[in-house]
Amino acid sequence: VSLSTLDVVRDAPVIPVIVLHDAGHAVPLAQALVAGGIRMLEITLRTPQALDAMRAIAQEVPQAVVGAGTVRGGADAEAALRAGARFVVSPGFTPTLARSCRELDLPLLPGVATAGEIMAAQDEGLGVLKFFPAMQAGGAALLKAWQGPFGDVLFCPTGGVQADNAQALLELGNVACVGGSWLAPARALAAGDWQAITNLARQAKALRRPHFE
Ligand code: 3PG
Repeated sequence: VSLSTLDVVRDAPVIPVIVLHDAGHAVPLAQALVAGGIRMLEITLRTPQALDAMRAIAQEVPQAVVGAGTVRGGADAEAALRAGARFVVSPGFTPTLARSCRELDLPLLPGVATAGEIMAAQDEGLGVLKFFPAMQAGGAALLKAWQGPFGDVLFCPTGGVQADNAQALLELGNVACVGGSWLAPARALAAGDWQAITNLARQAKALRRPHFE
């Protein structure tokens, strides 16, 4: 059964945005997040180690669902798919990327920050969107404004979201989940402090989504 973008955003209140400089961290990190209840993992294509990291998680951590982040075009999506990614996240929206992902049968969570970009994504049949960069572009106030014209769209705000502002976003009816890098802090990765990461995941998993309960 193929995964949908809705499956990706419904699974947990937070999608961790992961930047790995050491592919050796991939498996213990994924195991630590899964132990805390977080299975949808976005590995950003920002480091040369990203594809190896995805491959390792896809092969060795079957409970995790590995996705690729920072996907900017069809070539990125194809490389991610070959490395085992099962969904892709992009910082922005282009019709070209939407079509490439459709051809590859990869669920796409594309970044949008304006009404026009939401409309362009809807033109491609997409209704579950990342709001990026969320806190910088307007945060909860902008999400509330979009509830009027775009009441049929679900968002995953990402960018500037942290443990202390996630709950307020998750209470909005058009927020499915949030994304953020705080679940995989560089310091914990460098120290191999997997327990700290499991604790962060557990706290994230415990955030409430009143409209999904
Ligand atoms: C990013 O661009 O790295 C993601 O949007 C995560 O942003 P954050 O570090 O503000 O969570």
